[in-house]
Amino acid sequence: MKDIFKQVEHNINSLVEKQVWWASCASAEQMQNARDGKIELKLGINKTVPSEWIAGIKGKDVLCLAGAGGLQAPILACAGANVTVIDISEKMLEKDRVIARDNDLNIRIEHGNMCDLSRFSDNSFDYIINPASLLYVPDVMPVFKECYRVLRQGGSLILAAPNPIAYVCDYVEDKKGAYYKAVNRMPYRSTDYADQGDWIEYGHTMEAYIGGQISCGFVISGYVEEQMDDITELNFMTKADKI
Ligand SMILES: C[S@@+](CC[C@H](N)C(=O)[O-])C[C@H]1O[C@@H](n2cnc3c(N)ncnc32)[C@H](O)[C@@H]1O
Repeated sequence: MKDIFKQVEHNINSLVEKQVWWASCASAEQMQNARDGKIELKLGINKTVPSEWIAGIKGKDVLCLAGAGGLQAPILACAGANVTVIDISEKMLEKDRVIARDNDLNIRIEHGNMCDLSRFSDNSFDYIINPASLLYVPDVMPVFKECYRVLRQGGSLILAAPNPIAYVCDYVEDKKGAYYKAVNRMPYRSTDYADQGDWIEYGHTMEAYIGGQISCGFVISGYVEEQMDDITELNFMTKADKI
């Protein structure tokens, strides 16, 4: 099998060139608000991270995991956090480099795979902020294990992800009309479907997302979700603590 991560990197870089919406950088207003203590942090879904989840982030060591694109890292840096961002896409990381340079922000920028955080020592971060991106890894467990290792005691992993219902249903048109129908068993892998071409995406189960974090030692202390206009598009965020 070809290197799926090389393929993901290629796919993401192509989308960034097409100016996909989730590669938009933080605005000057969002950065000023963060400097003033009003942190509006979105993780690739519409809802913002509940403010109480990140209330103590000023002065803390924060890893933006698979979180390049110039949105989360600059906002967190403006809020006074010591920010490191790691991402597989150089094109996404370039956005952080440019916005950091233009706004005199000190952000550590690392090109790498979220499944391998071996460059970071144990207990080196207070927060890990992970925008919706686990849909690009075949197995969430190596990521959760690494997150648990690099977080300090009392630290938190905050992530956003799509609920598997988004992958269970497809829009179908047949003699009954056009409607959403449950057609795929979970977990979903785009590589099982010839019509998906080189696109790589995984629909993980809630057991993998929630049970996976718990089995690594995390305690889930926060959960929010949102339903989009397309009612099969359901996103969620969790806050998981290393206690
Ligand atoms: C949908 S974007 C999320 C980031 C964006 N800032 C946002 O607000 O939504 C997904 C990100 O995950 C990154 N990514 C995908 N697979 C990865 C992996 N295995 N390791 C590190 N980053 C990865 C992509 O390069 C991309 O930057």
